[in-house]
Amino acid sequence: MGEKQDLRYLADLLNCVANDVKTIHLNSYGERFDDIHEISGNLHWRLAEDYDRVGEKCLELGLAVNNPNTAAQNIGYAAIPAQLYSYKDGLQIIKKLLDMLIQYLYVFCEAYKADLGLANFLQERIEYYQNESKFKDYARLVLEAI
Ligand SMILES: [Fe+2]
Repeated sequence: MGEKQDLRYLADLLNCVANDVKTIHLNSYGERFDDIHEISGNLHWRLAEDYDRVGEKCLELGLAVNNPNTAAQNIGYAAIPAQLYSYKDGLQIIKKLLDMLIQYLYVFCEAYKADLGLANFLQERIEYYQNESKFKDYARLVLEAI
């Protein structure tokens, strides 16, 4: 994965996923507005915190952190459309985004396993997002389907 093991890639990815989740937060609508607005709001906050943490780690490694405005362009990230998101649509996208993010977190966790502090942090984030996606979002979507 060469270039993708550059930690700036992960920082940019976290920023892009955070911005997509923020897009859902700001464009929530419908019967369950409060639920999707709150779920996406909380998740955005976590993603933004993780972006900050990984960005600071880049600096620690001597890598100049990219301007957040160039994140999507840097990594060829296709942002979700700016449109209204219902509870179900929003959750389905969030689940997809988190599952994709988890795959990258695994790659970086492996690539930086010699850096125990970073590897432990990434492992903890994998568990957190897995819990959000595989358990919580799954349960929410299954309940929605009943
Ligand atoms: Fe808000």
